Amino acid sequence: MKMIKNNITLPTKLFLSLSFSLLVTSVVQAADIQGNAEQGANKVRLCAGCHAIPGYRSSVPEVYNVPMIGGQSAGYMVAALQAYKKGERKHPTMRSVAGSLSDQEMADIAAYYAAQDAVSKANKLK
Ligand code: HEC
Repeated sequence: MKMIKNNITLPTKLFLSLSFSLLVTSVVQAADIQGNAEQGANKVRLCAGCHAIPGYRSSVPEVYNVPMIGGQSAGYMVAALQAYKKGERKHPTMRSVAGSLSDQEMADIAAYYAAQDAVSKANKLK
């Protein structure tokens, strides 16, 4: 009887430990996404029309009441973009903007904006 019990529980144990390692792996991969500011510089055309950055002027900051994101922390920006994507933040334009971005794109764009300061040169790629 003891043998049978072990035969049943061993595959179950293996299955549980495999599922657990897969879960841990996917969580670690999500946390592993590194923002690349140079990649991000290519991806901010869409943002530039609304978000004014010092040295990187958009024509419409007065028309839209848009928060300044140049120099904001990357972690804050990714969290904000994820919240728009999930619908936890409600602004309709930002929801559709964030909904079109992958996790990697968010990280790259956030790294780009986080690196901006008052003396940053205008982005020629916009
Ligand atoms: C059509 C104009 C428009 C475009 C295009 C746009 N945004 Fe926004 N964005 C806004 C407005 C308006 C808000 C404030 C919304 C609110 O009150 O929730 C905002 C909010 C944000 C916030 C939150 C800021 C904070 O202080 O909490 C982030 C981050 C952001 N936008 C990033 C981006 C990025 C990155 C892009 C390009 C991929 C982009 N936005 C494109 C208008 C725009």
